[in-house]
Amino acid sequence: PADLQLAGKKIVVTSGPTVEPIDPVRYIANRSSGKQGHAIAAALAQLGATVHLVSGPVSIPDPKGVSVIHVETAREMKAAVEKLLPADAAVMVAAVADWRSEGEASQKIKKQPGGEPPVLRMVENPDILAGIGHHAHRPRLVVGFAAETQDLLANARKKLEKKGADWIVANDVSPTSGVMGGDRNHVRIVSQSGVEEWPDMSKEDVAERLAGKIADAIRAVGQ
Ligand code: PMT
Repeated sequence: PADLQLAGKKIVVTSGPTVEPIDPVRYIANRSSGKQGHAIAAALAQLGATVHLVSGPVSIPDPKGVSVIHVETAREMKAAVEKLLPADAAVMVAAVADWRSEGEASQKIKKQPGGEPPVLRMVENPDILAGIGHHAHRPRLVVGFAAETQDLLANARKKLEKKGADWIVANDVSPTSGVMGGDRNHVRIVSQSGVEEWPDMSKEDVAERLAGKIADAIRAVGQ
């Protein structure tokens, strides 16, 4: 049927934050409610795609019609995403922690009477999007996001190049924007052919429009 433009297509979506343990009771994480990523997974499924959503810990329900893998850390998310290849498209919406605490403590770090607070040393996490963008089984369409608080377009263009993505969906996540955790988003789609600015709209509307654009792009490349 005409409205199931993505029937037979397999699409991997990431959503939510990753959380990186410091010790058994503490962690470092990025902010993300999962609303935007989950809405995208649902919208792709609405168009008939077989959607695999890899999600960090969120408090919203799993979207309908989507198979969901729950993970915590960036390393777990990367392994889960790569296991799902090959796929027709990947949409990486997750707010992945760029760094984790080096050497997770196996026991709760205790306060020492009169002692100094612990110093955390950070190590870099793998970049999941860059890994997919340059993968031997790279999906034909790779979409990343860019969450920025300054120089939105310049940073998005750098991510497009560096991470090997076809599009970067750029959003301003300054605290005053209300995007992180909120219900609306104002995005710009950055690609080699330029920048497309979409008006401020609900995250569901962004998801529907993006799913339609993904369907058009996959069709344009051929069945
Ligand atoms: O979840 P919500 O509350 O609805 O908010 C939505 C959102 C703001 C989280 C979402 O729209 C968004 O912008 N997601 C990307 C968040 C992010 O971490 O962006 P980034 O600019 O740090 O990363 C750029 C891209 O690389 C992203 O596609 C990200 O998934 C990916 N990445 C980043 C680091 C890393 N180690 N691995 C990655 O794959």
